[in-house]
Amino acid sequence: MTTSSTLRVQVPGDKSLTHRALMFAAAARGESRLSGLLIGADCQDTATILRSLGATIPELPHDGGEIRIHSDGLDAWHASDGVLDCGNSGTTVRLMMGLLAGRPFCTTLTGDASLRSRPMRRVTDPLGEMGARVRELESADRLPVELCGGPLQSLSHRSPKASAQIKSALLLAGLSGGAAVDLWEPGLSRDHTERIMRSLGVRVEGRAAEDGGWTVSFEPPPGPLPPLEMAVPGDPSSAAFILAVALLSRDREVMVPAVGINPTRTGFLDAAARMGAQIEVLNERESGGEPVADLVARPAALRAIEIGGAEVPSMIDELPVLAVLAARAEGETVVRGAEELRAKESDRISAMVGNLRAIGVEAEELPDGFVVQGTDRPLQGRVRTFHDHRIAMAFGVLNALPGADLEIEAPEIADVSFPGFWELVRSLGGRGS
Ligand code: S3P
Repeated sequence: MTTSSTLRVQVPGDKSLTHRALMFAAAARGESRLSGLLIGADCQDTATILRSLGATIPELPHDGGEIRIHSDGLDAWHASDGVLDCGNSGTTVRLMMGLLAGRPFCTTLTGDASLRSRPMRRVTDPLGEMGARVRELESADRLPVELCGGPLQSLSHRSPKASAQIKSALLLAGLSGGAAVDLWEPGLSRDHTERIMRSLGVRVEGRAAEDGGWTVSFEPPPGPLPPLEMAVPGDPSSAAFILAVALLSRDREVMVPAVGINPTRTGFLDAAARMGAQIEVLNERESGGEPVADLVARPAALRAIEIGGAEVPSMIDELPVLAVLAARAEGETVVRGAEELRAKESDRISAMVGNLRAIGVEAEELPDGFVVQGTDRPLQGRVRTFHDHRIAMAFGVLNALPGADLEIEAPEIADVSFPGFWELVRSLGGRGS
């Protein structure tokens, strides 16, 4: 239920879905119609790269309005004139490597300092097994790489991680290179790629494996991919920051409309509920093949919880904001089984723990997670963001608390996934950066 004092805060379009919608539209033959796209820096990089390969993509609109993307299909893609710069975006580089692995030309891919420090062999090794030739240009397992593609062989692969970037890269390679892919992952990672493929008539089946993992089987379609129509819902990962501001406030009730609630993405809502948060899920419906709802959060007294195991992939991007809730919860919160956090835009275990300590919260690193001791003391100090949007925004949530006095270094990195984040936090009574 909402009341007249409920603040309505719209969050930008889903980042994972925006990347995929742009890629599928550029891979399809014909005119795709997309709306609700995120215009953050990561998705702009994906659009720029797809344009350079031959797709006609107008400027991404700032109001979430519809755009039409024209492409003559994957077969019409051509080598780009220059190096493909994927900026800060792991999703761009890993999924594009998949698509390019099936194209008969060579490209060089790179990124910013953060992306150049992240592992790539988790994708380039299986792409090599399919027949793509990958040359690491500077150092092992890192960008920049030169990738030469062509028709590919089928692949049967056990992924070392429950990672949608690995899974999607391999499915997209199968699509682009005309090869079947059978994949096992240790747990179900976000399934947006599979959903879009199914909506376009592509055969891709997922099922729980007997050993507790998840398997996906993909058959390449016989003809070109048909155009995509998609209204991208609000990003649940961005919504988590706004919901957290409301939960930690004294008197703010906030409604975030039209947020994606794909079950592979809702771990934050479940964990927050275990902490005692009140987040209502209203008006469940569907948009763009994805479940969507309006989320309402109000202030709550939070208690510590333990997080680990199979639930981690469904909240992997929300663990920084969960750490922030833990800093204000009663007791000691423990997160385990999340070593993947060390390979994100920054080492998020070390970044969260180091910053929490710097502002007066007791916290400790574990090899695969962290421990945070809740406190109600006023928080003060300097926060280093390590070129990581989610680290910056997590501390933006804490800076919205009464009495907080944080100086957040280089806050503009939030634009990667949430343009306008700081203005929104200020409109909710927070100090911003
Ligand atoms: C993403 C998958 C996740 C997530 C990232 C976006 C995607 O990464 O952390 O922000 O769009 O596929 P991994 O697949 O590497 O876990």
